[in-house]
Amino acid sequence: MKKLIIDLDTGVDDAQAVMVAIADPNVEILGITCCFGNTPLENVLKNTLRVLKVCGRLDIPVYRGCSGPLLTSKRHAGDYHGKDGLGDVPDPDAPGLELLQKRKAVQALVKMVKQNAGEVTLVATAPLTNLAVAVQLDPSLPKKLKALYIMGGNTESRGNTTICGEFNFVADPEAAYIVLDRYTCPTYIAPWEFSCRNSLPWSFCDKLLSYDSEKARFMKNISTLSMKKAKSADYQKEITEGKGFNSCDTYAMAAAIDDTFITESDEVAVSVELEGTYTRGMMVLDYMDQLKKKHKAFVMKKVNHEKFKQMFIESVK
Ligand code: BDR
Repeated sequence: MKKLIIDLDTGVDDAQAVMVAIADPNVEILGITCCFGNTPLENVLKNTLRVLKVCGRLDIPVYRGCSGPLLTSKRHAGDYHGKDGLGDVPDPDAPGLELLQKRKAVQALVKMVKQNAGEVTLVATAPLTNLAVAVQLDPSLPKKLKALYIMGGNTESRGNTTICGEFNFVADPEAAYIVLDRYTCPTYIAPWEFSCRNSLPWSFCDKLLSYDSEKARFMKNISTLSMKKAKSADYQKEITEGKGFNSCDTYAMAAAIDDTFITESDEVAVSVELEGTYTRGMMVLDYMDQLKKKHKAFVMKKVNHEKFKQMFIESVK
């Protein structure tokens, strides 16, 4: 059984990632910690509960985390997935925030990892603020983790938020810097360009979303807006070749739950650029070993597409 903690900012791809994790019988989700990101924190909390409701898993503890970045005053409000972060298709019967745990996300993260030392895989699909605060609170936290999987950063300076920056890193560059510096556990990164290149073909999306189940109908409702945007998007065309939907966060999740999912990666020290008019928040890949960092991360390059599709299919059954 894999023990997961998921730190997210529930937009559409975070929701898909959670559904994939829930569908795996070998995964136990110890808790979900929420962070601002795709949408303000209050929406993230509501969206997370909505996803758990449709999966019949409101028993999974959900925690309120950071509502803004550590230092930066410039907010990069994500609205790619709609104003509410989940495709702007509200559910009048959505669960209320009284279902949230009383304990706050960062404290909960530290406690859950301590209680399950050596066993927890942490999957981070949001700005890394909660993780950065958690390691300040408990510097030994990374040592107690089994592994960390991150969706974020970029490898070719192709931004999706600024010219050179990927959203999760740009939304809180200092947090990303701290996490890449201090989390010395085995670390796997699904960067932006990699996710673009591995997007789900539209023909597969159509098949997936036409499955006859409540979960598939939910996924279809929440994804319609982002899929429409993705189909008409001009940006990243060169690398996505307009070929499909990029469920970026689900790559980090898939890698976390299946050790054979990644088929090719680069093992390299990574950091984050904190200055620069155009480059703040951009991931730094130290192929020349100039930073002399002992800790290297695995930056994903190729993954098993058939497994990925199968995980999606299971997630809507
Ligand atoms: C990341 O930013 C968000 O929009 C997505 O949920 C993903 O985590 C991609 O840059």
